Amino acid sequence: MRFVEANGARIPAIGLGTWELSGRDCARVVEQALKLGYRHIDTAQVYENEREVGDGVRASGVRRDEIFLTTKIWTTHFAPNDLERSAKERLVRMRMSEVDLLLLHWPNPHVPLEETLGALAHAKQAGLTRHIGVSNFTVALIEEAVALCPEPLVCNQIEFHPYLDQTKVKEACARHGIALVAYSPIAKGRIKTDGTLIRIGRAHHKTPAQICLRWLVQQNVSAIPRTSKIERLSENIDIFDFRLSDKEMHEISQLHSEAGRLTDYAFAPKWD
Ligand SMILES: NC(=O)c1ccc[n+]([C@@H]2O[C@H](COP(=O)([O-])OP(=O)(O)OC[C@H]3O[C@@H](n4cnc5c(N)ncnc54)[C@H](OP(=O)(O)O)[C@@H]3O)[C@@H](O)[C@H]2O)c1
Repeated sequence: MRFVEANGARIPAIGLGTWELSGRDCARVVEQALKLGYRHIDTAQVYENEREVGDGVRASGVRRDEIFLTTKIWTTHFAPNDLERSAKERLVRMRMSEVDLLLLHWPNPHVPLEETLGALAHAKQAGLTRHIGVSNFTVALIEEAVALCPEPLVCNQIEFHPYLDQTKVKEACARHGIALVAYSPIAKGRIKTDGTLIRIGRAHHKTPAQICLRWLVQQNVSAIPRTSKIERLSENIDIFDFRLSDKEMHEISQLHSEAGRLTDYAFAPKWD
């Protein structure tokens, strides 16, 4: 496993996303992923599966200190007291003493960022999480957050795949030593019929999903593909035995100009 280093954090380059995984299936997929070598699991308050994620972690038998566990606080809990309460509740749900990374799930323009970041930093100082970060932050918000946050931010989790150009956010994060964690890294499965990824995959004996994930990891980005299928767990982590050429990397980076923005999130807050 490779790691993405960021402001003191070592984030495994491939993790398991758990959005829409629920109940015993979620616990089973998390357990299997860890048994197959995953060491990074992503959940969130709004996924309503933190309990099952915790169960899967314990069932795997993998030592807790070998696993990088991320959860996110929803925007309705960004007032300082709410945030701290919610952070503690995350741990109760997972039956964990701390998480590795606690994120603000989306920006919330209705609560001053300084107050929310102060509370997030306090959660870290209180030992509820080893690291803190944000998600869905733009370049302007990253700059503001870095200036306001009393503790280093280690990650901005954003939608990132070949159909979406994230160069500007990536550069802003790099300037501040913040890692990018790519969500929807295989564009919710849409990449599997992509002619360019299929062709490049044939040359490396890899699937389009593996080419796509390799493209991210080779840019020093961590990716958190989600699958409900055990066989795809192995596929999505089997990307460390080959390398894309500069020409292939460039060609994949150009796919966004043809495709435009493809995804749309049920959870994305719609602010007035
Ligand atoms: N911070 C945020 O706001 C935010 C937003 C969205 C997502 N996320 C996080 O990022 C994670 C990943 O994003 P995502 O779930 O939206 O999308 P994704 O990982 O890009 O795609 C998941 C979809 O791709 C399919 N799939 C998985 N592996 C495949 C493979 N090797 N070949 C073909 N299809 C494959 C899955 O189907 P099967 O189950 O049938 O395999 C599923 O339908 C989430 O689970 C969540 O943890 C965060």
